[in-house]
Amino acid sequence: MENFVFQNPTKLIFGKGQMEALRTEVPKYGKKVLLVYGGGSIKRNGIYDKVMAELKAAGCEVYELAGVEPNPRISSVRKGADICKKEGVEFVLAVGGGSVIDCAKTIAAAALYDGDPWDLVTKKAKPEQALPLGTVLTLAATGSEMNSGAVITNWETREKYGWGSPLLYPKFSILDPENTYTVPKDQTVYGIVDMMSHVLEQYYFRSPNAPLQERMCEAVLETVIETAPKLVSDLHNYEYRETIMYCGTMALNHVISMGTRGDWATHNLEHAVSAVHDIPHGGGLAILFPHWLRHTLDEGLEKTKRLAVRVFKVDPRGKSDRDVALEGIQRLSDFWTSLGAPSRLSDYGIGADQIDIMADRAMAKGNFGNFVTLNRDDVVAIYRAAL
Ligand code: NZQ
Ligand code: ZN
Repeated sequence: MENFVFQNPTKLIFGKGQMEALRTEVPKYGKKVLLVYGGGSIKRNGIYDKVMAELKAAGCEVYELAGVEPNPRISSVRKGADICKKEGVEFVLAVGGGSVIDCAKTIAAAALYDGDPWDLVTKKAKPEQALPLGTVLTLAATGSEMNSGAVITNWETREKYGWGSPLLYPKFSILDPENTYTVPKDQTVYGIVDMMSHVLEQYYFRSPNAPLQERMCEAVLETVIETAPKLVSDLHNYEYRETIMYCGTMALNHVISMGTRGDWATHNLEHAVSAVHDIPHGGGLAILFPHWLRHTLDEGLEKTKRLAVRVFKVDPRGKSDRDVALEGIQRLSDFWTSLGAPSRLSDYGIGADQIDIMADRAMAKGNFGNFVTLNRDDVVAIYRAAL
């Protein structure tokens, strides 16, 4: 393993009926609250009313930033930060999926930063402080509820970057699986693909002697694979929603990657696609991950073979390592398409003429990938294979 220090301060409040924790948690940090939410799902499914009732009972003064986009934009961050500065907001509460949470995290830092919030996302500036932030998660996918990262898009320049700071860990996150009942099938599937992709990114490491880390990755993947098909045909099932919600958090709170360094190239490839085309993150990953696996087959042979045998139950007898690995990749891809995920960039109307601009975006910070370093030719080859 590599040396590591692990500290994740987010208080997880998990289970049915946990919304009432807002009443005691929020006032610990302040009573002037900015409530951040998306395009209206929380108004349709009643979560907004429940949150407001709790905030009212806690005696909070509530300001609102509504309409945060999927693939949240820096323009929304600017609006939220302006409200915080003008009204003296003391606490930011995100109620939504990863997009709302990421926007709220960036607002929390931007509220106490004098320049343009895009400086923080591009790492031109480092935040020295941030407002405290809490979340009510409504969609199992990103793990943002228990990590310190945020991904923000600049739609004017078609750029999308992840950034992070220990200041961005939510103080608490409320995870009630019932709050995910209304997530439609397509978003449920994108979330499943995203959490599996997070595990896959962390599975591909070169750090020596990390057998438990590898097995924890496999355990999360196997649990998702077992549960996901049942969930997509029974979206209102508490136990399936509960399992998937817990898997999503565990997939990216960095518990499974202590002492290892994951690859993360496929996320960079996907962010470049959704920066230019505004497609769902999970949809892009479902298309790209199998192609990254095939492109890096030689370097990843041992890992991919193990993944194929242990997780995708490929019978290795009488087959070459390469064939076992390729069969595993095909099973992964088939699994995602069986749930309803897309498998080609053309499913989103993205053609060969778009490869150059997406490759430019992906290469914005130079070669990338910790397990296998990708250069521009690799990036173009992967996009081309995924057309
Ligand atoms: O906007 P509303 O109306 O709320 O609708 C949302 C949105 O349209 C809807 N939704 C959420 N909860 C719902 C619901 N609909 C019905 N019932 C509910 N309970 O779902 C749609 C998608 O929401 P979004 O938040 O965009 O999805 P997700 O959680 O997948 O977040 C995706 C974003 O997170 C970033 C992605 O790049 C993307 O921008 N990521 C963030 C990461 C992180 N912070 O650690 C890591 C990830 O790898 C990822 O890159
Ligand atoms: Zn992701």
